[in-house]
Amino acid sequence: MKEYFSKSKKETKKIAQDFAQQIIKKKNKKAVIISLEGDLGSGKTTFLQGFAKEIGVEDIIKSQSFVIMKKYPILNKKGDIAFKFFYHFDVYRIQNPREILALGFKDIIKDPRNIVAIEWGDKIKKILPLQTIRLKFKYQDKNERKIILINENNLYYNEI
Ligand SMILES: Nc1ncnc2c1ncn2[C@@H]1O[C@H](COP(=O)(O)OP(=O)(O)O)[C@@H](O)[C@H]1O
Ligand SMILES: [Mg+2]
Repeated sequence: MKEYFSKSKKETKKIAQDFAQQIIKKKNKKAVIISLEGDLGSGKTTFLQGFAKEIGVEDIIKSQSFVIMKKYPILNKKGDIAFKFFYHFDVYRIQNPREILALGFKDIIKDPRNIVAIEWGDKIKKILPLQTIRLKFKYQDKNERKIILINENNLYYNEI
């Protein structure tokens, strides 16, 4: 377990960028799955904005404005990223994990070219694979958040 403290939106994005650096230096032997868990307004989308920018996905849209899933190409301008696609899921509104499976989720999380981030991933934990990296977001104060990386060993999972 690893804890990060953020005192601003900007700081949350910076934490996400550092985290992204650890992800993109991986060899892409397996898909990277990230589950973001925590209340509304705790910073999950803000974190993903910083993360996306770092992997060469510009301007991800606010999760409230799409239905469940959005796919982006990873532009990889510097040529140092093995991953090809970034999937942004927000499963807040789903009633049953089956709704995600109907979107081809199984194939998406099996494809080693993919980085898959899931807001409210705890709602579908039954169908998340072992290599899932879990991040918990906690509201502390108006501008303060705690971000907890629960299973940091999973950062290295797909090297094995
Ligand atoms: N330290 C912080 N980190 C992230 N967001 C913060 C922070 N402090 C205040 N905020 C505000 O909290 C809100 C977080 O919203 P958002 O990232 O959409 O959360 P979620 O996706 O978890 O619902 C934004 O309005 C943002 O400006
Ligand atoms: Mg959100």
